[in-house]
Formats: sequence, structure tokens, C-alpha cells
Amino acid sequence: MAGQVPESRTRRVRSVLERRIIGNTLGPGGRLPSTRTLAVELGVSRSTVQVALDMLVAEGYVESRPRSGLFAARGVRGRLAAPRDDQETGRWWQARLAAPGPETDRVAPSWWNARYPFVTGQIDSTLFPQHTWLRALRRSHDAGHVEWSSSEHGGDDPLLVEQICAQLLPARGIDVDPRQVVVTLGSQQALAVLADLLVRPGDRVVIEEPGYPDARAIMRAAGAELVVAPVDADGIDLTGVTTRGDLVYVTPSHQHPTNVTMSLERRLTLLDAAARWDSVIVEDDYDSELRYEGAPSPALASLDHGRRTVYLGTFSKFLSPGLRLGFLVGPPELADAVRDRIRLTVRQVPSLLQRAMALFIQSGDYARALARHRRELRTRWTAARSAAVEHLPCVPEFPPGGGSLWLRTTDGTDWRDVLEPARRRGILLQNPAHHWAHPTPSLSCLRLGFTALSADRITPGIAELGVVHREARLRRQR
Ligand SMILES: Cc1ncc(COP(=O)(O)O)c(C=O)c1O
Repeated sequence: MAGQVPESRTRRVRSVLERRIIGNTLGPGGRLPSTRTLAVELGVSRSTVQVALDMLVAEGYVESRPRSGLFAARGVRGRLAAPRDDQETGRWWQARLAAPGPETDRVAPSWWNARYPFVTGQIDSTLFPQHTWLRALRRSHDAGHVEWSSSEHGGDDPLLVEQICAQLLPARGIDVDPRQVVVTLGSQQALAVLADLLVRPGDRVVIEEPGYPDARAIMRAAGAELVVAPVDADGIDLTGVTTRGDLVYVTPSHQHPTNVTMSLERRLTLLDAAARWDSVIVEDDYDSELRYEGAPSPALASLDHGRRTVYLGTFSKFLSPGLRLGFLVGPPELADAVRDRIRLTVRQVPSLLQRAMALFIQSGDYARALARHRRELRTRWTAARSAAVEHLPCVPEFPPGGGSLWLRTTDGTDWRDVLEPARRRGILLQNPAHHWAHPTPSLSCLRLGFTALSADRITPGIAELGVVHREARLRRQR
């Protein structure tokens, strides 16, 4: 609109003047220069200066004295500390934080704009069942369903809990009472609440190595002492763990990040150890639906007659991480405590989403979308597997599940050296260092996510990655 002053320019002028007022670097007696002088000095129009000055007058920084001009207000001039710069402010806040800063690798911002986003835990939007999801969302507003809008704080949607118990958990071999199910904001919230409720400072938490970095960070933030147990082709190996753990965190279906399925023998060993140690097991079943060959193994919780396992499920990996919907299954006493903690923090998981998800499952659309999704991901997995074997010197064995390939290269590549050259070519990779609790001298493994790119982009993407990888090797040999 003609005559209007752009807001960002005004804000800039305002903050320059504010700094001068606070720092007392104005004319005698705190007099402000004329609008004409300020406009020339700051390279803006007089009207911009005028708007900024009006703001400062309204806020009490500047006072207007009749026939004398504008002055920095006496109560403010030179009284406030000079503004701190970003670096100093950053250091101050870091020192204030009781918990350590994030140690994990965040997915690159706007990853979807990359040519080849081999990121993990994300889906490309074409996979989301938009039509049927919208139908469920619309139905959640019909009479008989719209009660979500007046639901009690802290309450889970009984229809969603019923659907989880009737349709999702039986496929994992779990048969429980609805009281034992709590709806969460994804499995991440479940993990954080469990750490809060179950881990005391100094408790020993056994984790997989390599493993899920966020679980490690959550347990560390709760004050746990981490005990790492290596993972091989059969899953977690507890042989070297000689002292008891208070809690064991595992991903048995498709181990994060290697995708191996924990063998029955290892499951029995784990249950046995947990019984001896009298420890809790947290089973993070984050992507058991993503299985491309053979039947998925039943959940570890289904074998646990001692009922010491807490099971975590999520809708993030198959539907969308943006939905923030997951669930926890545990004994009623624990489920009640988790519900209370959720009520005190976020009140509840949005009941609109809960009802829409309940209707989505009940209508059969969930099962149909899952079957389609699995077929599509199988195609992507097959493409990724063949391209990896063709273009990279890697061990040609890939467990048939998960949304990523765990590439183990055999030529001594340290994948950290490839991240930046790959990024320059539009290939987004995750830093492999984050999978390990203890830094390893050479990181020749890479978790290559294939769920965020369409099948026809996977092969050229991996071929190009092969080129970047070869160039990195040549640089190393020089
Ligand atoms: C092993 C594992 N657990 C939990 C999560 C968190 O998932 P959600 O989106 O359900 O919070 C992730 C997400 O990447 C994961 O990989």
C-alpha cells in the first residue's frame, strides 16, 4: 500500500535508536538527532524514522519536550545494560541449561528440496493416504464423533484405544486390556515420559551399540549411566554386560540403525537377563510394519510372561511423523502414571487426531493403506539394495525390513568424509557418528534412508553417491 513503511526496516531503525538510548551515546542531554539527520545516516526515508520514533515514544524510551525536540527518557538512558551479542548470549544460555545440549543429528531443514534426500524417518508426501485420511478427519466432525471437542483433559479416545487393542496389537501378538494402552505424541514422548518416571540419576540403562541416538540422549538427560551392548546379526548381545541394568532399551523388530531382527535365542536371553537383574525392558517397535520378506516376528512383549516389558508403537513410520501419534502398552499401574504425567505436561494428545485415527483404522482404510505402503516400500527397498551393491563396495546383505539400508562398506571409507561432498551434489545423508555412544575410529557404516524418495530416484541417487564415494577414496589415497 502506498505510504506504508516496511516493518522490518522500521524495526531495524527502532533497534539502532534503542541501542543508542540504552548506551547513552546520543547528543547532549540525550537529545535525539532530527528525523532528517537520522534518515540520511541510516539510509531510510524520514517516514520510516518517524514511525520508529513513534514506537519508541509509545514504549517510553523517548520523550517529546515541547519546543525542544525528542530526548531519551531519563529513566531509561544509560540505565539498561548494553545489549549482548549473539555469541555471548548463546554462551550464557548454554551455561544455564541444566541438561546437556542436543547431541543428535537433526534431519536437514527443508530436506524435501534436496535432489536425493536419503534421510531416515521421513516419508515423501505422495505416500500419505490423503483421500482416506481426509475422509476420517471429516467423519470425526459428524454428530456422534464430534464429542472429541469436549473431551476431558488427560483422556485418551476410547475408540482409538479399542481399535489399537482390536486391530493393531493382535498382529504383534499382544492381547491387553484397554486400561493398559496410553496414546502418546509419538514414541518419542513415550520414551521421555518413561525416562522421567522410571530412571533415577545413576541408574544403569543398557542400550544397543550402534543405537537410536535420541533414546540415548533421553536416558542421559534423566541421569542414567549408559551401558552399551554390541549388536550383531542376531540383535543385541548381552554377553559382555557383567553388571545388572535397571532398564534395557531395545528395538527388536528392526534394530535401529542396522535393521536386524533380534533372534528368538537373543530374545530369550534378554528376558532371562532382565528377570535376573529385575529390570524393566522398553521395546521400541517403531517400524515393525515395514517388512518386505517373510512374516514380522511377534513383539518381544508377547513373550514376556514376567510382564516387565513396556511396548511402544507409533504411526510415524508408516503414516507420517507429522501426525505425532503413537501409543504405549504396559501394566495398568505404569499406564496410569504415564497418563498422569501426560496430563501435567501436554494435557493430552489432540483428541481430534485420536478420533480421526480411530475412524481411519475402524473403516479398514488403515489396513489397505498399510498394504499399499508396504508394497511401495518393498519396491524402494529392492531398488536401493540393487543400486547399493552395484555402485558401492558394501557387504551385500540387507535385512528385509525398515525404511533404510545399513550400508557397511568394505574399503575403509569413513562416511563422515563423504557427507559434505555429497551434500554439495544434493545428496543428503545422515552423519553415522550419531549412532554410536562411543566414537569409533573409522565409521564405515551408513544408514541410507529410502522412504523419502520415489523409487525412480533411488537408483540414480545411489549411482551418484557411488561417484562421490569413489572421489573421496581417491582423495584419501593421494
Ligand atoms: C527407534 C526410534 N524410536 C522412536 C522414534 C520416534 O518416533 P515418533 O515419531 O513416534 O516419536 C524414532 C524416530 O525416528 C526411532 O527411529
